[in-house]
Amino acid sequence: MFTIDYFSEIIEAAIADLKLPADPAGLYEPIRYTLDGGGKRLRPVLLLASARAFGVKASTVISQALGIEMFHNFTLLHDDVMDNADVRRGRPTVHRRWNSSTAILSGDAMLTLATRLIADCNAGKLRDVLDLFNTTAMEIYEGQQYDMDFESQTDVSVDRYLEMIRLKTSVLLACACRMGAMLAGADEQSCAALYRYGELLGLAFQLQDDYLDTYGDPALFGKEIGGDIINEKKTWLWINAMNECRGEMTRILDRKLTDYLKIKEIKAVYDSIGLPERSGELIKHYVEQAVEALDNARITPEAREFFVKLAGRTTSRTH
Ligand code: IPE
Ligand code: IPE
Ligand code: MG
Ligand code: MG
Ligand code: MG
Repeated sequence: MFTIDYFSEIIEAAIADLKLPADPAGLYEPIRYTLDGGGKRLRPVLLLASARAFGVKASTVISQALGIEMFHNFTLLHDDVMDNADVRRGRPTVHRRWNSSTAILSGDAMLTLATRLIADCNAGKLRDVLDLFNTTAMEIYEGQQYDMDFESQTDVSVDRYLEMIRLKTSVLLACACRMGAMLAGADEQSCAALYRYGELLGLAFQLQDDYLDTYGDPALFGKEIGGDIINEKKTWLWINAMNECRGEMTRILDRKLTDYLKIKEIKAVYDSIGLPERSGELIKHYVEQAVEALDNARITPEAREFFVKLAGRTTSRTH
């Protein structure tokens, strides 16, 4: 089986099996709450599929797949504190359900649990695996810092935005792909090609996340709509609206509107210059580039088809 559902089921089962101590409950309950909250499991799916593309079965790399998902969930706990977000995966965020001290400390524990899971691999591969993981983690923190820095900057270019999302989002998808391939003993050219695939897919993925943050259906998206506008996040939508309608945008911001009205008015600017459609085109462009990157990976047509299908889902996803 080489399908998204097949890999997702393996991951769900492994997450359900993951043993966490009962005490102190204040540390472990939020971790279980987070892991059981669903999510698309995109990164571990990428890792399992990348190993499988080189003939290695899921059970051999499941620990690293879980580790990557644990790490991703850790970043979400801290991200929700940083973004002051109330809802994730259709439920209260950890810092709202408990408090921010809990989100910080349970997040810390998840980072260590993630490292432990990832390090549980073939001794001959350990050094390379940890180097990749640590480099990726540092890049994500850099991306998250740029994301916050940009909130108070008015002159962020599209290029700087793209580099910021490459860091905060793409590199983890890329890392998952490379780690799976590496653990399966793939050649360097193929590892690099899958990394590039993950990186380009990540750009499309974050552009779609930004689109859904304004245009998504809250019931499906599982997060509050409009958070990026409230926080004045420099998304592709915002940057283009500023470039093309600076006067209008500034007038809206100067009026110090309620959250509801601010979202409504900024969204009207986005609509007036066709940004939703244009962002859709850019997403499609990165998905196509991601698919092209697969040409350099020495994988079977079946594996290639899997990665193409997965990339295609990004453009149509609603959550
Ligand atoms: C959310 O990631 C954070 C981003 C990088 C946009 P996902 O959209 O993969 O979140 P889950 O794991 O499916 O909830
Ligand atoms: C989050 O980006 C990226 C990381 C968690 C590293 P966002 O802040 O856009 O993610 P969501 O929308 O809260 O999931
Ligand atoms: Mg954020
Ligand atoms: Mg966020
Ligand atoms: Mg977002």
